[in-house]
Amino acid sequence: MKVLVVHGPNLNLLGSRETSVYGNASLSDIDFSLSELGKEFGLEIESFQHNHEGALVDAIQEAPAKGVKGILINPAAYGHTSIALRDALLAVGLPFVEVHLSNIHAREEFRHHTYLSDVAAGVVLGFGPDSYRLGLRGLAIKLGRAG
Ligand code: DQA
Repeated sequence: MKVLVVHGPNLNLLGSRETSVYGNASLSDIDFSLSELGKEFGLEIESFQHNHEGALVDAIQEAPAKGVKGILINPAAYGHTSIALRDALLAVGLPFVEVHLSNIHAREEFRHHTYLSDVAAGVVLGFGPDSYRLGLRGLAIKLGRAG
């Protein structure tokens, strides 16, 4: 069973970007650990990062035809701004889990709202790279692959 991991803008800089907020792990560290964890649940992980909103929308739209059954997404800043990402996720109708490395509710007020949270299967935030791992476990439960 295939899961798409979507990383939004600036997450390609993880490891060097604002390390006091986002930690030292790089995006490839995170993707590797998700692939390994995915194996425990019988999930094949495909990861995609892009800085452009439309490219993220395209990747979400293309997911069902690729056999993807669920989406793990860190929308990064687009979570706070993008109705297009919300609409794409609703359009494909796949269960998705929203994750954030940082606790967005403990930061600036403009980060407190996201356009995805109320339509997500679940939201995990504030645990650094472990937010992704916990989110993948939650998605695996949702997909009947973990208890
Ligand atoms: C983030 C939080 C967002 O507010 C921010 O714009 C990001 C990263 C996180 O993972 O903590 O780029 O999504």
